[in-house]
Amino acid sequence: MHIDRLEKRWATVSLGIAGLFVLVILGSAFFQGIHAPSHIETIDSASLHLSGEFAEDKLGVHEDAAGNITVRIVAGRYGFYPQDIVLPTDTPLTFRMVSQDVIHGVHIPMTNMGTMIVPGYVAEVKTVLHQAGAYPLICNEYCGMGHAHMWNNIKVIG
Ligand code: CUA
Repeated sequence: MHIDRLEKRWATVSLGIAGLFVLVILGSAFFQGIHAPSHIETIDSASLHLSGEFAEDKLGVHEDAAGNITVRIVAGRYGFYPQDIVLPTDTPLTFRMVSQDVIHGVHIPMTNMGTMIVPGYVAEVKTVLHQAGAYPLICNEYCGMGHAHMWNNIKVIG
């Protein structure tokens, strides 16, 4: 089979680029420890409500002694728990979210607070909310018949 010299050259270039991408991905994964930010911590979906940080009495807004605010949310068909969350404006917030069943999404419209909640993993988002007001926190991953009705209430107070 005859392959044109120019064609061979371009094939080499394109394979080289593909190989370079693979090296960059492997390099960043293994040497710099870079991976999807929401997939660092694992958790057992079946028992997360029984003990630990996602037990019912630990959900919602918690401020530690240093003033760091953590918001813990459990997502499940078809709701977010707790249902009502009140947050301060212009304050660093750490959202930690888990699913008790299937993949859910989470998004506060008009803000950069959004991610996917994959069962078995803790999804963490750090953000600051600048605009006071009432927001829905909505599910933006199709999760079943009740998906469109899956939200909770966020009130941001300045
Ligand atoms: Cu939960 Cu869509």
